[in-house]
Amino acid sequence: MATLADDPAGTSTPAELDAATLRQAFGAYPTGVVAIGALRGDEPVGFAASSFVSISLEPPMVAVSVARTSTTWPRLAQAPVVGLSVLSHGQGALCRRLASREAKRFDGIGWTATPEGAVLVEDAALWLTARVNATYDGGDHEIVLLELLSVELFAGVEPLVFHTSQFRELLPHA
Ligand SMILES: Cc1cc2nc3c(=O)[nH]c(=O)nc-3n(C[C@H](O)[C@H](O)[C@H](O)COP(=O)(O)O)c2cc1C
Repeated sequence: MATLADDPAGTSTPAELDAATLRQAFGAYPTGVVAIGALRGDEPVGFAASSFVSISLEPPMVAVSVARTSTTWPRLAQAPVVGLSVLSHGQGALCRRLASREAKRFDGIGWTATPEGAVLVEDAALWLTARVNATYDGGDHEIVLLELLSVELFAGVEPLVFHTSQFRELLPHA
């Protein structure tokens, strides 16, 4: 992997920013993970995303970055409202399932749907519902800006943390 020490003048060419190096670099930044979901007919569809970020208080907005290869997002994007569940500390296996190639990812997962069809995962740390406000070019991803419609915070439920391709838990600073 190229490092600053190899190239102190910072003259690395973009060609050195290969996908494996970038995955490792981006993975050094710890995040939470959200489950994004909505009903299609009676069936819940959705996937896990660590690219969730808060954007604005007024109006209330968040964003996620969605791979252009995603087959699930085009189905979700048509939903009038989507649910975003911030996964909790014990939900690593559930997260893997929501990122899997399984046709019925929500089988075996506790979930609920709002009257508008947003799908929310039980025992999460936070529930949000939102509608798509705008999308922007993000290279091989699409940046999706979502306007929040509702917030339900489960105080005291610790979030799942994703870092260096592993699920972790928060610990208080000594
Ligand atoms: C921890 C974790 C974080 C992920 N974050 C994202 C993300 O931010 N954006 C994204 O498009 N896919 C993300 N994925 C991949 C999706 O969850 C899922 O695997 C992908 O959407 C599956 O393809 P499909 O959309 O064709 O069903 C993540 C997967 C994992 C395990």
